Amino acid sequence: MKKRTLGNSDLEVSALGLGCMGLSFGYGPAADTKDAIKLLHAAVEKGVTFFDTAEAYGPFANEELLGEALAPYRDQIVIATKFGFKDGDSSKGVDSRPERIRQVAEESLKRLKTDHIDLFYQHRVDPNVPMEDVAGTVKELIQEGKVKHFGMSEAGVLSIRKAHAVQPVAALQSEYSLWWRDPENEILPTLEELGIGFVPFSPLGKGFLTGAINENTTFDKTDFRNIVPRFSTEARLANQVMVDLLTRIAQEKQATPAQIALGWLLAQKPWIVPIPGTTKLHRLEENLEAVNIELSANDLKQIEEAASKIRIEGARYPEHLQKRVGN
Ligand SMILES: NC(=O)c1ccc[n+]([C@@H]2O[C@H](COP(=O)([O-])OP(=O)(O)OC[C@H]3O[C@@H](n4cnc5c(N)ncnc54)[C@H](OP(=O)(O)O)[C@@H]3O)[C@@H](O)[C@H]2O)c1
Repeated sequence: MKKRTLGNSDLEVSALGLGCMGLSFGYGPAADTKDAIKLLHAAVEKGVTFFDTAEAYGPFANEELLGEALAPYRDQIVIATKFGFKDGDSSKGVDSRPERIRQVAEESLKRLKTDHIDLFYQHRVDPNVPMEDVAGTVKELIQEGKVKHFGMSEAGVLSIRKAHAVQPVAALQSEYSLWWRDPENEILPTLEELGIGFVPFSPLGKGFLTGAINENTTFDKTDFRNIVPRFSTEARLANQVMVDLLTRIAQEKQATPAQIALGWLLAQKPWIVPIPGTTKLHRLEENLEAVNIELSANDLKQIEEAASKIRIEGARYPEHLQKRVGN
């Protein structure tokens, strides 16, 4: 497995990480624990060293799962987790008060069965807590050895600059893919200037960019995609043209649409590390193969030209969640 370094930090990880959320949360019922552990072990065996979780995934169940599955491999891998929601419950709103950050760190360490968190992200900016206080608290946790690196998620450039001035930020984790390219405007140039790595979440467009979802797909009633405007039946129908583009490039490259979606992200910057999620072994294998996809300047130009003519329909978040991003 190829490796990448997140920005100017010394945090080296596999070029693709594994997004673990969907094993416990967000996309219907949690996976069977035995199957989930098998998948996590397979990921380690295939060279994945970067595992993404959060106290909010479950809440708590996903960290507990990783603790159980990854404890035997702890020294070989990097675990990233996140704080920032009230009681760890993303439906209750944000909470990054210093005392809460400390509490989450202690509890996450226990659930993850470890004595250090490699990368501790603020899940969403808390408008009620000065960024200096958040970064200052993580700085103390780093001095105490409980946390190794500081990260942020879906933060705006002003917050990133404020935080970075207090405690260098190793990575920003925000949505980025061929159907959500907003980070290219302000975020990526800022990260490049400051030497911060970028971890695109939902790099497969929550599954849509793989071609496995169409207008007839139905989701479990607990699946988050039921309330995402971009996943309305009309939007899925309209956005199929992006999947068609990926399918066309995939055929040329003897690859799959998912591999092209990931290969395109990897080709944008050498300090980008996508974290696709899956609950299925064969898809894990398929996705990891994307590190071997070579997209030439000409391929990228062709994708760019075709993609620039596509207008993606539907917001990526419902309104109440949209307010939480970019702050
Ligand atoms: N910081 C944040 O706020 C935030 C927000 C969202 C996600 N995340 C992180 O980012 C990770 C990845 O994002 P994500 O899970 O939202 O979206 P994603 O990785 O873009 O897509 C995951 C979905 O795609 C399906 N899938 C994966 N590989 C596939 C393939 N090769 N062919 C067909 N379908 C495939 C999965 O279904 P199966 O399980 O059935 O394969 C799953 O439903 C999460 O696990 C989480 O760790 C962070």
